[in-house]
Amino acid sequence: MTLLKATSLSHAFDYPLFEDISLTLNAGESIAIVGVSGSGKSTLMHILSSLLHPLHGDVELFGEDVYRMDDKSLVKLRRNDLGMIYQSHYLFKGFSAYENLEVATLLSGETIDPVLIQRLGIEHVIHQKVTELSGGQQQRVSIARVMSKKPRLIFADEPTGNLDHATALEVMQIFNDYLREHKAGMILVTHDESLAAQCNHIYRMQNGNLKES
Ligand SMILES: Nc1ncnc2c1ncn2[C@@H]1O[C@H](COP(=O)(O)OP(=O)(O)OP(=O)(O)O)[C@@H](O)[C@H]1O
Ligand SMILES: [Mg+2]
Repeated sequence: MTLLKATSLSHAFDYPLFEDISLTLNAGESIAIVGVSGSGKSTLMHILSSLLHPLHGDVELFGEDVYRMDDKSLVKLRRNDLGMIYQSHYLFKGFSAYENLEVATLLSGETIDPVLIQRLGIEHVIHQKVTELSGGQQQRVSIARVMSKKPRLIFADEPTGNLDHATALEVMQIFNDYLREHKAGMILVTHDESLAAQCNHIYRMQNGNLKES
């Protein structure tokens, strides 16, 4: 089953960023996107994940053209089916880590998985305020929050940028187990080639093109 199908995407800000990018992601699969800083990876992720209308081209998620959906369906899709882990983590700062997970699961009708919290190594800080956590701990809480929603499609932009290599590898293991168990898909942006190598496909953003390598 195809989870994501992007066709002929182009985007520009002050100057053309990329042109004619097409991409397909099937259930149970992961795609890594690599490329130098400023090449347009995060912009592409925003377009693929329903947040930014491309200049040209289409994005289908679960067979539906996201940029032709009405707002209500789009909110529902984001809430229930998409998991977005971005470069800056959007946790509710006044809440504890656990309360952040509760909000996500309440909205999506899921339950918090204690095994996930344990595997991410955040069980001893789970009741602390988010502002009292280290950058890496906050990053692991945002990963837990997104995965607690049980999304069918995960968009992760440098999700392990604040983590040591061993912890980053464990997070990749958690992602891969999740994709297999839930027949979900993931698009991962990373600067770390060894993490990219854990994905089914690697694409490189270079000179405004995206090529499988
Ligand atoms: N909202 C915006 N308005 C104008 N220019 C933007 C906007 N967002 C991104 N850009 C520009 O587009 C280019 C690509 O940015 P993008 O964030 O997609 O790169 P990236 O590949 O994710 O880089 P990094 O690896 O550093 O995260 C940059 O030159 C950036 O300044
Ligand atoms: Mg980026």
